[in-house]
Amino acid sequence: MKILKLGGSAITDKKAYKKARLGQIKKLAKVIAEIWKKGERDLVIVHGAGSFGHAVVLKHDINGGINSDKQRVGYADTHAACSELSLFVVKALIGEGVPAISIPPAVIIKQKNKRICEFREGILNDYLSADYLPVLYGDMVPDNELRGSVCSGDQIMAWLGKNAEFLVFVTNVGGVMDDKGNLIPEITKNNFEEVSKHLKESPNDVTGAMKGKIKELLDLNKTSYIVNTDPERVKALLMGKKTTCTKIK
Ligand SMILES: Nc1ncnc2c1ncn2[C@@H]1O[C@H](COP(=O)(O)OP(=O)(O)O)[C@@H](O)[C@H]1O
Ligand SMILES: [Mg+2]
Repeated sequence: MKILKLGGSAITDKKAYKKARLGQIKKLAKVIAEIWKKGERDLVIVHGAGSFGHAVVLKHDINGGINSDKQRVGYADTHAACSELSLFVVKALIGEGVPAISIPPAVIIKQKNKRICEFREGILNDYLSADYLPVLYGDMVPDNELRGSVCSGDQIMAWLGKNAEFLVFVTNVGGVMDDKGNLIPEITKNNFEEVSKHLKESPNDVTGAMKGKIKELLDLNKTSYIVNTDPERVKALLMGKKTTCTKIK
């Protein structure tokens, strides 16, 4: 299985409130369709929530748990927003002839203190083995301690990544950059400390942006790639070829 994440930074305008970048979604749907038409059937898509998630979570003040009726409405509203974005993604894929099914993490994942503790992967595997393209996403999920919490697309990637050949992360940047804006071609446990100096905090990002993403990946014994939205680069990686990106081992 290969897993492709369409980052919230790539498919939404993260500075806005619930603004999808439909042109980017269509462009990425076309690349996925190309791979699909070549016969790829062992693929899972995960997408971020971008401005349908982070900003909505902050607006409702639900990043520290669900403790009131008002926050329950906030949880429901955020889940609905993330699902709205997911519909844009699957509709673009269906428009390109790909049988994409949006699977809400809110109904198959459970967390304990913001970490996944239960993942009903059966539904996902049923769709995969029936030759559909499952699409999961960053969402609100039930939480044993907090009653509800954010589950990032990156955490879903890391969980599913245990059974994957490799993981590809499409973002709005060409990869991980150093302070001078040069691409860091490879990150391993050996250079992570040095690389972390270049990872900036993003206060409005409830899942830690690039730093959060890399932390999710370091303990995973799989190769991941962070790449921009250039269709040729995304296609190259999905076909197992080299391209300009950051490789995380
Ligand atoms: N050293 C760095 N190199 C690249 N991006 C970085 C770095 N430090 C912080 N970032 C931020 O991380 C963002 C990518 O993470 P994120 O917004 O979470 O992507 P996604 O929405 O695709 O998960 C970049 O847009 C950038 O603002
Ligand atoms: Mg992110």
